[in-house]
Amino acid sequence: MKTTFSIIKADVGGFPGHSSVHEKLIEVAEKNLSEAKNEGLLIDFHVTHCGDDLELLMTHHRGENNEEIHSLAWNTFTKATEIAKSLGLYGAGQDLLKDAFSGNIRGLGPGVAEMEFTERKSEPLIAFLMDKTEPGAFNLPIFKIFADPFNTAGLVIDPSLHAGFKLEIWDILEHKKVFMDMPEEMYDALALIGAKSRFVIKRVYPKEGGKLPADEPVAVISTEKLYQIAGEYVGKDDPVAAVRAQSGLPALGEVLEGFAFPHLVSGWMRGSHNGPIMPVSVKQARCTRFDGPPRVVAVGFQIKDGKMTGPADLFDDPGFDYTRQKAIEVADYMRRHGPFEPHRLPLADMEYTTLPKVMEKLKGRFKDIE
Ligand code: F6R
Ligand code: MG
Ligand code: MG
Repeated sequence: MKTTFSIIKADVGGFPGHSSVHEKLIEVAEKNLSEAKNEGLLIDFHVTHCGDDLELLMTHHRGENNEEIHSLAWNTFTKATEIAKSLGLYGAGQDLLKDAFSGNIRGLGPGVAEMEFTERKSEPLIAFLMDKTEPGAFNLPIFKIFADPFNTAGLVIDPSLHAGFKLEIWDILEHKKVFMDMPEEMYDALALIGAKSRFVIKRVYPKEGGKLPADEPVAVISTEKLYQIAGEYVGKDDPVAAVRAQSGLPALGEVLEGFAFPHLVSGWMRGSHNGPIMPVSVKQARCTRFDGPPRVVAVGFQIKDGKMTGPADLFDDPGFDYTRQKAIEVADYMRRHGPFEPHRLPLADMEYTTLPKVMEKLKGRFKDIE
């Protein structure tokens, strides 16, 4: 029987401000998911946070887009919202954009990354959780992990990885997708995914004829765009991803190495600034300086018959100290630009923030230049 790993996340209230999640929200989510586990709906679960996002990591046998699983997540967020409101937490219920659940949590505000797969004898899996950024922030590390031999030695050395992988790339504006083979179509793929606010890697698949089934994903990334759902800026779509590792896939360390470079992502402060993404431990996943800098945590598990052994807090390691140091230097450098691009996002990307209101106010003051 196949196992489904689901990450469903939402910001239902920050503590304090938009920096982190209050432990009472974690507690209520744990209680709700533990009841679902006792009832047999879930096999296992882990509740954590990255910045102000409450993250539900769950295993079950019900496949992707399952109504009962999505409804469980929705109810959990609703209960957490009640607590958030009673404590006066900041932005209580902010990501729950609709009043009622209607079969599938997609389009209602929370972010979702799910994959169903046949477990191998030993199944290492890493959940990556980001705050203060957008789904395209995963493009660079996922590309490096599955397609760049300078990151993943196995692509060169291990015959079982040598054939490469297939990327499923989504155009999130046009709602279209394309599958591209790595390394054969690498340059074409880079032309797309380098434009990370529009083209995002949604899934990664093994190639045909390899060790793993070619129709089962080995990585999946959430791609919800809150602003497209809400019509105006209501917070960001801080993304999550699940990545499987080892035996025919990039090794755990090759997967984590994809995050050793703190690349620039958008979404910092008011969803309107570029800044470096900093890999941190769960404890350090509190967005403080200028509401950031953007962060990513990595929680590792071994999955056996759906049971999640873990979590291992994988960026809680001096091996990433240099990356963090670099991120802080780059954060400082970017901050000095203040309201100037390229720290502030270009105008087109500011369309869904409060900036258009400023432009509207000034409209009547603009005169033709003779
Ligand atoms: C939210 C975020 C923050 C807010 C900022 C302003 O995740 O990234 O940077 O955009 O704190 O928040 P409001 O408008 O709620 O005062
Ligand atoms: Mg928030
Ligand atoms: Mg957030």
